[in-house]
Amino acid sequence: MQFDIIQPDDWHLHVRSGEALKSVIVMSAKQMGRAIIMPNTDPPVINAVSAKAYREEILGALPNNSRFEPLMVLYLTNNTTPEVITQAHNVGVIAAKLYPVGVTTNSDSGVTNINNIYPALETMQQLGVVLSVHGEIMRPEVDIFDREAVFIDEVLTQIANNFPELKIVFEHISTKNAVDFVSISNDNIAATITPQHLLNNRNDMLSGGIKPHTYCLPVLKRVKHQSALIKAAVSGNPKFFLGTDSAPHAKTDKESSCGCAGVFSAPHAIELYAQAFDQAGAIDKLEGFASKFGADFYNLPYNKKIITLKKQDWSVPKIYPFSSGEIVPFMAGKTLNWKMF
Ligand code: DOR
Ligand code: ZN
Repeated sequence: MQFDIIQPDDWHLHVRSGEALKSVIVMSAKQMGRAIIMPNTDPPVINAVSAKAYREEILGALPNNSRFEPLMVLYLTNNTTPEVITQAHNVGVIAAKLYPVGVTTNSDSGVTNINNIYPALETMQQLGVVLSVHGEIMRPEVDIFDREAVFIDEVLTQIANNFPELKIVFEHISTKNAVDFVSISNDNIAATITPQHLLNNRNDMLSGGIKPHTYCLPVLKRVKHQSALIKAAVSGNPKFFLGTDSAPHAKTDKESSCGCAGVFSAPHAIELYAQAFDQAGAIDKLEGFASKFGADFYNLPYNKKIITLKKQDWSVPKIYPFSSGEIVPFMAGKTLNWKMF
């Protein structure tokens, strides 16, 4: 069995910079037409100048014949003024990312109090710049499995109420709470869902030995939440769309006494989603989720290219070269049932 779909886009992707960027960007470019490029590089992308320079670096790392389009995102800090937003918008930045301070990789420059960015959010609302949200609260007393739910109650509800016209993407949702919040919100609020949150739950990460290559933030939750995410993804509701959150870290940084958060899924992202949709008996719902709903939300046209997905068993490579070392992909060594052509 095989079928064609419009080429997908990745609405949430980390590609890093320098040698790491060169190792991974080609993989996404083979699969995706466009990708929203996360700005938590070191140093982060905090203004129009750095967004432009980062875009140039990404384009320079692509093969000459590639038509892959990086879509740039600003990193919100306590010092992001309306002027910074306007300048970024003028150079083509389409979204700005809220990282609550300390919540994940390279979030040290993140926002300490949401009120600090209210003027910036006001300008984003006016200009149609999308707010992309890492939706977790970072207070030591909040349990890591509850951080998304508490963020919804304490922060996201407040932003949504105060900025009803602001377009918001709740990134990499991991709980039924997030599915419910997005489902009942107005049409300006959507969410991305990763392959690991569809295919795994916390047992896959922790039962029978710790699997560091499934550790990401927000951390995988219990099966009740996984089921809610699968249901949302295959529902055909355009508020839910593809965003891999592929986040490359070297093998040695993951297999460590203090391992980095991030799952690397770029080389076989669409195959992973096909697996999840097929397991749910809803492969016919994949194209909307992967290739249409995100473009609709960001007011962009669909890709012209068509890809073919074939039902065919193949093994995910155990390792890829990465910068001066190696990287272990999600589901390394496992058999997937779909292959992209
Ligand atoms: O697991 C994650 N890794 N979650 C994030 O939010 C950031 C990402 C990264 O950049 O490594
Ligand atoms: Zn991310």
